[in-house]
Amino acid sequence: MLRYFFIAFILGGISIAVLAGFRGTHSALPEIQIFPDMKQQPRYDAQHESTFFADGSASRRPVAGTIPLGYTLPGSFLQAGAKNGTIQPTGFTNEPNYYNTGKFADVYGDGFPLDVTEALVKRGQERFNINCAVCHGKVGLANGITSQFGIAAIANLQDDRIRAMPDGQIFSTITNGKNTMGAYGPNIAVEDRWAIVAYVRTLQKSQSVKLADLPEAKQKEFQSKP
Ligand code: HEC
Repeated sequence: MLRYFFIAFILGGISIAVLAGFRGTHSALPEIQIFPDMKQQPRYDAQHESTFFADGSASRRPVAGTIPLGYTLPGSFLQAGAKNGTIQPTGFTNEPNYYNTGKFADVYGDGFPLDVTEALVKRGQERFNINCAVCHGKVGLANGITSQFGIAAIANLQDDRIRAMPDGQIFSTITNGKNTMGAYGPNIAVEDRWAIVAYVRTLQKSQSVKLADLPEAKQKEFQSKP
């Protein structure tokens, strides 16, 4: 038994000496790479040259139209619509004012810091269907596709609680998320978030219209139906 131990001990000692003993010594031979794909990756380093691109440089310029975060969106769809010039609608601004936070100091505000136009609501519809409908459903009834795949407790945007919620709080929910809902502030420009809030209000209205809210001609049309 002891014999085997000594054999194992000596073999172990030799293998440690072989593996570790030559660390730090210089060699003219190519290094041994145990996982070569870690060090030899098919990629370009910044500032290096390239035989692939016509200009011989591995560094590329941003694609035309790329917008850096925190700068004005050129030709923003709402730029002309901002009220009396006090708000500069920019892509991803972050000042501590109502437009950017939905709050006045610590209190959620109600109302829109930009003009609610048809264009704004249309834009909101498009953005809502892209960003929110997967969970909240196209009408906000919490029946989006993800509800079939285990995302639990999605808020129903037609709830009285959310109807009564100040506009600023909905804006803030989009910006910062809530519990299992992630934050969409980093992905959705500020004005687009307001456009979505306007569309959420439109959806809520669409599910709670009273006959008296309709134009008279429409009222008659509904009244004549059995
Ligand atoms: C990945 C799924 C998902 C997406 C996408 C999503 N939400 Fe939510 N949302 C939720 C869940 C889940 C809740 C419930 C969170 C809680 O209170 O636990 C919620 C809650 C809310 C609430 C209620 C917040 C409160 O205070 O009770 C609002 C309003 C809301 N979402 C709006 C939106 C809007 C607008 C968008 C699109 C920008 C959006 N959500 C995108 C999952 C999602």
